Amino acid sequence: PEIVCLSIIVLGASGDLAKKKTFPALFHLYSQGFLPPDEVHIFGYARTKISDDKLRNRIHGYIVSDRSASPSEDVSKFLNLVKYVSGSYDSAEGFQLLDKEIEKQETSKCSREGSSQRLFYLALPPSVYPSVCKMIRKYCMNKSDLGGWTRVVVEKPFGKDLDSAEKLSSQIGELFDETQIYRIDHYLGKELVQNLLVHRFANRFFLPLWNRDNIDNVQIVFREDFGTEGRGGYFDEYGIIRDIIQNHLLQVLCLVAMEKPVSLKPEHIRDEKVKVLQSVLPINDEEVVLGQYVGYRDDPTVPDHSNTPTFATVILRLHNERWEGVPFILKAGKALNSRKAEIRVQFKEVPGDIFQCQKQGRNEFIIRLQPSEAMYMKLTVKQPGLEFSTVQSELDLSYRQRYQGVTIPEAYERLILDTIRGDQQHFVRRDELKVAWKIFTPLLHRIDNGEMNPFPYQPGSRGPAEADELSAKAGYVQTDGYTWIHPTL
Ligand code: BG6
Repeated sequence: PEIVCLSIIVLGASGDLAKKKTFPALFHLYSQGFLPPDEVHIFGYARTKISDDKLRNRIHGYIVSDRSASPSEDVSKFLNLVKYVSGSYDSAEGFQLLDKEIEKQETSKCSREGSSQRLFYLALPPSVYPSVCKMIRKYCMNKSDLGGWTRVVVEKPFGKDLDSAEKLSSQIGELFDETQIYRIDHYLGKELVQNLLVHRFANRFFLPLWNRDNIDNVQIVFREDFGTEGRGGYFDEYGIIRDIIQNHLLQVLCLVAMEKPVSLKPEHIRDEKVKVLQSVLPINDEEVVLGQYVGYRDDPTVPDHSNTPTFATVILRLHNERWEGVPFILKAGKALNSRKAEIRVQFKEVPGDIFQCQKQGRNEFIIRLQPSEAMYMKLTVKQPGLEFSTVQSELDLSYRQRYQGVTIPEAYERLILDTIRGDQQHFVRRDELKVAWKIFTPLLHRIDNGEMNPFPYQPGSRGPAEADELSAKAGYVQTDGYTWIHPTL
């Protein structure tokens, strides 16, 4: 078998993302045997001058604190694979040194006939992407005599609007082919987001129902029960639409709304997603409600008069045969009353309903992405007992109960594994990104220019009441008298 020498280089190794997400994901891949110790080397790169051990100590806490307790032997073996190189993000020196370090490992561990695979993970602000990509291109590509590949993983925010995003795409596009660029949207790595394709296209149940004839409205909701603590500076420049809606929720919308792809090939799937985005109509200001939680501006890194939304409800409408007239209500907020992400598909009323006098509510199909992954269907049943009355109940597939003992992997774990395997299905393609920005840019510019202002809302609340009014106006009907009972194990 071919001898593989895989180097994973985490740039921005001392930052938050690297510590909290990238290194723990690498560790979990390692401990599950996806990164064979005789093939892989991990490098951290950042500006600060620190020793290998200092970096190892920094990431140690994040690796051991989460999920199942890992054997300490695994942890120390993993940490031993991690090396640190310091250097700036725009000078030849650091990257030449990095290349030398990688090559040292490649030649010592893999013979000359091996294949050199280099994965660069940019856990960095996008402002340095162009210079870092230039340096990688110039000094750190895999050695052609060894074969293999070089891939670059980038994280949002990919720009701030259509023009800046396109500029960034062109700068990176001049240096790397699209097949080498992996734009992460970590929502695409979530278990129930990945299940959408299966749910939609492998089940006869849903095929005839998934359209404007049966569905009244679709909500895609993201709520967090904490504010922008510690990230106020970043957040204030971007706001909730750029932070969550334009990427995470829009990606979910694509998978909910798209037509069946020709096959499961990544390009076929992404082609269908782009078509959905292209069919989105211009956003109507009347169908937008913005909010900002009271206390947001107390953060010293947030300007006193900031009008950045920390909450938004935006209704998107698709102009196509399947979805004409069905509102897609995208809602995201910080500092709300709960932490939850879900897709709620609400069906129309039953025509010629004979139970009208004891109406219980509409059918809904809910996919809860987090916490406690679940899919459940709300339906009306006869209230068990002697009396003849109806009640709203549910068919429930709660993952924790149904798949006991199965650990659901972290989104980042799965996506990093995809990058190693060269599977771009769950990554955002350049044209997809462009249309996503096209949809939101006019609205974002109006907000940036102060033409639209957020309503204040209390932290720990549902967000501004105007948002609920907007959803109701769009057709969403809240079910009264229904409580979801958490299934017990
Ligand atoms: C990030 C946003 O992309 O996603 C954060 O920048 C947000 O603001 C986070 O908190 C939410 O991710 P998750 O996986 O916890 O829902």
